Amino acid sequence: MNIQFTRFRHFVLIFTLLPPLANAQFYPEPLGSGPWVFSTYEQDNVRLSVIVRGINEPIGMVFVPETATADNSLGDILVTERRSGQVRLVRNGELQAEPAAALKDSLSVSQLFDINLHPRFADNRLLYFTFVKEGEHPDCTEDLCLTTAVAKGTWNGNSIIDVEEVFEADAWASHIGGASTRGLFLPDGTFIFGSSHRIELEKPQRLDSHIGKTLRINDDGTAPADNPFYATEGALPEIYTWGNRSVMGFTIHPETGEVWELENGPQGGDEVNILKPGANYGWPVVTYGRDYDGTRFNDVPWVDGTEPPEVFWVPAITVAGMDFYTGDAFPNWQGNLFVTSMMVGRIPGTGRVERIVFNGNGEIRRESMFGELGQRIRFVTEGPDGLLYLLTDHTDGVLVKVEPVATSAADQEAQLQELISQGLTEPGLFLASDCMVCHRVNERLVGPSFAEIAARYDADDETIRRLVQSIVEGGEGVWGDVAMTSHPNLTGANVRDMVVQILGL
Ligand code: HEC
Repeated sequence: MNIQFTRFRHFVLIFTLLPPLANAQFYPEPLGSGPWVFSTYEQDNVRLSVIVRGINEPIGMVFVPETATADNSLGDILVTERRSGQVRLVRNGELQAEPAAALKDSLSVSQLFDINLHPRFADNRLLYFTFVKEGEHPDCTEDLCLTTAVAKGTWNGNSIIDVEEVFEADAWASHIGGASTRGLFLPDGTFIFGSSHRIELEKPQRLDSHIGKTLRINDDGTAPADNPFYATEGALPEIYTWGNRSVMGFTIHPETGEVWELENGPQGGDEVNILKPGANYGWPVVTYGRDYDGTRFNDVPWVDGTEPPEVFWVPAITVAGMDFYTGDAFPNWQGNLFVTSMMVGRIPGTGRVERIVFNGNGEIRRESMFGELGQRIRFVTEGPDGLLYLLTDHTDGVLVKVEPVATSAADQEAQLQELISQGLTEPGLFLASDCMVCHRVNERLVGPSFAEIAARYDADDETIRRLVQSIVEGGEGVWGDVAMTSHPNLTGANVRDMVVQILGL
């Protein structure tokens, strides 16, 4: 069964009727209350539900280890807010009013990005942050003066204390463009993070600047002696790779242990790279993308001495976050790479999640998912429970849980018994058509309960005809803000029989 919700079509229509906007980066409608159920190519009946909302432009998150309790099964979750510079605490499934930290109080934060657990967090309770820092520097040409920086703080069980800067990059510029900086601790205990291009066209290709690089430091901010340019005269010792545009994510390949890096291209040319220490990833000499005015950067997408991307997107999908899935909840997704998108082809309201399947040779399949939500999807990560978690980019940002709808043999049997005990004479029809993914007889799931439907409608011919039509073609949203999916593969006769049984309850 192909489940497709249509509730956001109205918003898309409104957008297309508006005149073109000079600044197309406005936010779409905030995410509704859900839940939603989708079927995907390799995994049927995937349910998305809201855990908390009202996070202001969330961008990074961590699950705090060993904080799960009977009431708080996921444990504490810390989420960074990009422009407010706050770290928010989600506890017992609720967004706490008091922030866990207001980093602007102790650091010169222009925009906050990532949060990472120190590898020895269990002992030292340290959290690392990447941010764009405001300051003064001779390289700046205007009042606006920014670089990339890393800070740390200590988790005391309720908030983050002793916040201090660990490293300031030599990446000063008067441009906010391509501000992003994400970070990751590598298995050897060093910290890798991105320092973006900042619209500078020369410095990403020079080793005496941190602009347009990935950098690797020890946890105290010093450069590790095994960095590729540590001993190179005139090169900055923290540089790990160069020619990187705007790093939007890092993750470790679960089998090979390689560092995979996600970066925003210009129009077209968003990339996933496999990082090799000392390698040049080409920006802005070569790219699969074009500049925003349509011109090409080069006639060829890569040249000798640069590394081609492992995965790329034309048009750009405005990549924003990435993780490999390794959990047990979605067996058919194991080893897949999940990449989030904020908008496709620079059309607002088109963000989604891309699922990329690899074999030993490379990419073999790519699926776009959850585009029906019409959101800018900022971040994806696997939770300690083996489920996936998403953040939507919005002033009313949402933490979303992605889980399989349980369909074990025991569940099927329990549902069958419930249908029989409620007097439905052909329960097999409902089970075979997957109706129970969203409905129960007495309880509201994604859709209304069958008992509620029976109470609302008379069983006259006109009502039966209308309900048959809404099941086959999809409902309008008369029960709330979630519209019913269309079921084009159902046969009319069976559906009429189902409706008569529901109305007879
Ligand atoms: C993906 C989730 C989903 C599945 C699967 C699903 N439904 Fe629904 N159903 C809904 C939602 C949501 C509504 C409320 C729609 C609305 O408000 O118009 C709904 C509404 C209904 C209604 C009332 C429609 C109205 O206009 O009041 C009936 C009857 C119904 N479903 C029957 C079924 C049957 C029978 C099946 C299996 C063939 C089924 N549904 C499968 C989500 C689902």
